[in-house]
Amino acid sequence: MKKKQSQESQNKNHKVIVFGNQKGGIGKTFSTLAVASKKSLSGEKILIVDLDSGGHATSSLLPESDLDTNFQTILEISQGRVHIEEAIISSKISRVDLLPADQRIKNIDDFYVNKNPAFIAKNMIKDIASFYDLIFFDVGPSFSRVISSAYLAADIVFIPITPDTYSIEAATCTVQSLLDACFEWRVQIPTIKIFFNRFTTRNSSLFAEEFVKKSSLAKFYSGIKLPETTTALHAINQKDFFLKKVSSETGRELRNGIENLAKIVSLNNKILNRGALENEIH
Ligand SMILES: Nc1ncnc2c1ncn2[C@@H]1O[C@H](COP(=O)(O)OP(=O)(O)OP(=O)(O)O)[C@@H](O)[C@H]1O
Ligand SMILES: [Mg+2]
Repeated sequence: MKKKQSQESQNKNHKVIVFGNQKGGIGKTFSTLAVASKKSLSGEKILIVDLDSGGHATSSLLPESDLDTNFQTILEISQGRVHIEEAIISSKISRVDLLPADQRIKNIDDFYVNKNPAFIAKNMIKDIASFYDLIFFDVGPSFSRVISSAYLAADIVFIPITPDTYSIEAATCTVQSLLDACFEWRVQIPTIKIFFNRFTTRNSSLFAEEFVKKSSLAKFYSGIKLPETTTALHAINQKDFFLKKVSSETGRELRNGIENLAKIVSLNNKILNRGALENEIH
């Protein structure tokens, strides 16, 4: 297994990024991989910490030769059996390192009962953070203790929503859980950016026109759109992911849901801009 390359330069201004939403299957991992790989192309050194026992980021990023090899996860780090630096490996994308995960980490919260989540993820990366420009935590669809600690460690939390009311409700819940956790654990609220994923003219025609014209939500992102059949990594390798204009209609419920979400976000003074996602990480 290829160990990460030694890092000569250190960056004290690294950023921690989380793509989060308590709903599953709405593009958290996909967007993490897409944005991380896009950023790596411009020379930035990236670490992806897989916090999902599903290990989807890991299976996408692990070089073929390492698929059957034993790797270390945050479980072994939490058990004190290995230091994070020894557990990090090179991924198949250059300049992107990976702390992998698999089913082993499904009960990881057991190690952190009664621990302050403001420090779990933060402390985990503290010795290696300055080796990277960007650190992404790939989180699963929950707000469990360890996952909430990643949100609390983040400088920017991107929240994908898809054109269904459940994803918007879940996004609203996620923003609320994050704000509550910041209050409870006295952590500064990260920048929160909502973006549309998988909104197309087909699934949402009338909605966006109205939406873009009439509301402040014109500032929302459009999502990364790829042909449905394209797998994330294939697309990334082809570098053919691109942003599509917001254009949508899925009805009143959807609009109400999004407007409600926008209120919560903007009440907290989080400005949502248009443009390419990766340009939102400065
Ligand atoms: N914009 C997109 N274009 C094409 N495919 C996408 C897009 N967004 C997500 N997908 C695909 O949808 C599926 C679910 O996405 P993904 O695994 O990123 O969701 P997730 O939010 O990380 O889910 P989980 O919470 O279970 O980890 C994947 O097959 C992914 O490749
Ligand atoms: Mg995922």
